[in-house]
Amino acid sequence: MTRTAQIPDTVALDDENDSIVIIDQTKLPGRIEMKSLKTAQEIYEAIKRLEVRGAPAIGVTAGFALYLLMKTSRAADRSDLTGELHESVRYLNSSRPTAVNLSWALNRMKACALQVMSREFADFKSLRDEVLSAMHRECLAIRDEDIAACRAIGEYGLTLIGNGSGILTHCNAGRLATVRYGTATAPMYLAQEQGMKIHVYCDETRPLLQGARLTAYELSSAGIETTLACDNMASSLMKAGRIHAVFVGCDRVAANGDAANKIGTSGVAILARHYGIPFYVCAPLTTIDPATPTGEQIVIEQRDPSEVTDLWYRERMAPDNESFSVYNPAFDVTDHTLITAIITPAGILRPPYTEAIAAVSK
Ligand code: MRU
Repeated sequence: MTRTAQIPDTVALDDENDSIVIIDQTKLPGRIEMKSLKTAQEIYEAIKRLEVRGAPAIGVTAGFALYLLMKTSRAADRSDLTGELHESVRYLNSSRPTAVNLSWALNRMKACALQVMSREFADFKSLRDEVLSAMHRECLAIRDEDIAACRAIGEYGLTLIGNGSGILTHCNAGRLATVRYGTATAPMYLAQEQGMKIHVYCDETRPLLQGARLTAYELSSAGIETTLACDNMASSLMKAGRIHAVFVGCDRVAANGDAANKIGTSGVAILARHYGIPFYVCAPLTTIDPATPTGEQIVIEQRDPSEVTDLWYRERMAPDNESFSVYNPAFDVTDHTLITAIITPAGILRPPYTEAIAAVSK
């Protein structure tokens, strides 16, 4: 864990300067560039552009955001402040649709504020002070709970890793997607802490290369042996016997265990089933959405075609004419029947998932 300390916190609250400080992940791995976000629009854009990304990190950012937007509000009375609260929640929630952590954190912060606002106060200043102090505590609690949840996932996940294992992961469910440890990477960091030998294979994760730019970067910087492979090489690695387990994160787990994660994840799960390799989904409870019955109801974000055709190339690498189009969903849903276990901070969930998920969602 010590060597990852060189990377600053993915997202932090700078209360003195009324801002959120993030690592701008679009600049990695070339440089660690910190970015300060103050306005609702800056925060919205940072989430939309994936400058801050990964379901838990988006949730923590949303918690800090709502606190800061209330703190810097010019509202002069209770009604204006309430109106601004609802509007900020609506606006920020529209930045990305798939990760449930965003709406979860916004709703938790909103409920915290409304609970205080429902009380009687001598004047507006007293109400405002009380709202802000409650929201401040709440957003820091969301951050601290994320750190604890990742650590717990790491401890449960570690029991599923043997010494000398080869592990495949897809996208980045690492510390850059959370505040610390990551979810899918937490067992890897803990394995390293315990002196175990593991080798992690990172899918590069087209089209935005989170595996290459982020996971391979953070794990290798921490001294974990890491090999990068293009997404279409996973089958070859599995066939060669180099993968003993797959660990991935998730953006939303439905009540039946279907799990949305970065596009390509479901293909890896199908390959793992074919080769008889366990496929583990790591999920903080904040990513489990019992209100969504199955994966069918999960809204999948569609992104700009230029991410596929242009982003990493000096010149466009696809035709450009009226008969041509691009398919660019950011996520896919892995069917629960392909998931060996869901590793949560409350324990390792095994099928049947409907019962197991209901038990931890109470
Ligand atoms: O589009 P991204 O980079 O935000 O997608 C991230 C993922 O799919 C992660 O695997 C998921 O959010 C879990 S992060 C612990």
